[in-house]
Amino acid sequence: MRVAIVGQGYVGVTGAVALARQGHQVTGIEREPARLAALEAGRTPVSEPGLQEELSLAMQTGRLNFAADLKHTHVREPFEAVLITVGSPPDETGAADLSQVTSALLDVAALLPAPAVVLKSTVPPGTSTRLLQAHPQLRDRYAYNPEFLNQGSALDDWTTPSRTVVGLWSQSVLPVLHRLYGELACPWVVTSPDTAEMIKYASNSFLAMKISFANEMARLCATPDLNIDKVMQGAGLDPRIGHAFLQPGLGFGDSCLPKDTAALAHWAAARGVPTPLLDAAIAVNRAQPGLVGDMLRQELGDDLAGSEIAVLGARYEPWSDDMRAAPSRALVPRLVAEAAAVRVWDPATDAEHLRRLFPGAQPCLELATAVQGARAVVILTEWPETIEADWSLLAARMAPPAVIVDGKNCLLPDRLTGLPLTYRSVGNRLPDLVAAPAGTPRPATNA
Ligand SMILES: NC(=O)c1ccc[n+]([C@@H]2O[C@H](COP(=O)([O-])OP(=O)(O)OC[C@H]3O[C@@H](n4cnc5c(N)ncnc54)[C@H](O)[C@@H]3O)[C@@H](O)[C@H]2O)c1
Repeated sequence: MRVAIVGQGYVGVTGAVALARQGHQVTGIEREPARLAALEAGRTPVSEPGLQEELSLAMQTGRLNFAADLKHTHVREPFEAVLITVGSPPDETGAADLSQVTSALLDVAALLPAPAVVLKSTVPPGTSTRLLQAHPQLRDRYAYNPEFLNQGSALDDWTTPSRTVVGLWSQSVLPVLHRLYGELACPWVVTSPDTAEMIKYASNSFLAMKISFANEMARLCATPDLNIDKVMQGAGLDPRIGHAFLQPGLGFGDSCLPKDTAALAHWAAARGVPTPLLDAAIAVNRAQPGLVGDMLRQELGDDLAGSEIAVLGARYEPWSDDMRAAPSRALVPRLVAEAAAVRVWDPATDAEHLRRLFPGAQPCLELATAVQGARAVVILTEWPETIEADWSLLAARMAPPAVIVDGKNCLLPDRLTGLPLTYRSVGNRLPDLVAAPAGTPRPATNA
């Protein structure tokens, strides 16, 4: 099939590569000149495991190219289907800003002959119905098909999804989707566009609630007689609960959960429907980054001015360069505002980028240099270099009281026992006072 994908961000580039790999002839449409130039030069503008290699391969086969202009490319050789994967960021009230979606749909509606239209951006329930009022000619060839990929496993998630959700008004568009996605060995949920839109928000809201639940449990497990790792391990082994999204930390961090929970809460409030669970998940999440300041003040004293603090990791996850909602974006400026002497180390972010992200903080190229003389270390990314570091050597480089605030609960507790430092995590992880009976298999830690 000849396919266009409008919007080449995390979802669009992944989709373009995956569909080209499947054998389709794909054109990625991107309006942002720097992004387009990178793609045309064969470089992915977003970081995702395996994506660069697969992008290069797909371009070599001649099945994947990029363009700025949908209309002229379509005139030369019409597309059978156009997928829309543009952004739907929050506006200043928290509602979804649909200007990119509206404008992309307008571009697609102008195409002749008319292709099938597949909107994949996350949009509030009722959006397709409302937008299609202006383009009634598209209704029979329109599908809302939300994307559920996770950053870090985007290509795999696209290729082997847990389900395919399709919202449509006319069954006549279904064969196009079947040809587009081929033999996906997953259930298809076919419903109305409004319901399909709500499925995406319901999914992300539930995941957000799981994270906030884990964070609330961690607050309850902040005393030495409780071990949050074991609590989450023991609860998550129940298949009705599961381990996914039960890791305590400093909050959602990726860019989708904060914006989608805010958009759903806004949508519900506009309809006068109370959402106490969702509101609580958002409130827990908002408070979570404040734990770092609380722990630092408890250990270093109320006045952080002049205190040397090393921040290890700027990314939310090592594998994703999506920093739109990374906790470091709020935390580092807060520490700088308190006049702490902040150094930031992140092995995947160059010094210039760190300087732009965190004015007033000092970028560091080496972990050991960042830690040197620091009274406290704050861990914000589970970089293997941080987890595998010899913390007895790093502790020796630090200045008293040598505090580690592990915002990702990622250090291995066994390696810290007995070291001359104070270890603080999200909920208590150290020490596990209960010795296992002889012969008991050692349970995996949550880290
Ligand atoms: N990022 C994720 O992990 C993820 C996962 C599932 C769903 N989603 C949803 O998918 C959508 C896209 O997310 P993203 O993270 O890829 O967004 P993004 O902001 O990274 O990328 C969107 C791209 O679309 C481009 N664009 C906007 N309007 C355009 C137009 N008219 N023509 C050409 N290009 C245009 C922008 O320049 C940008 O490069 C959002 O609605 C998001 O909520 C994202």
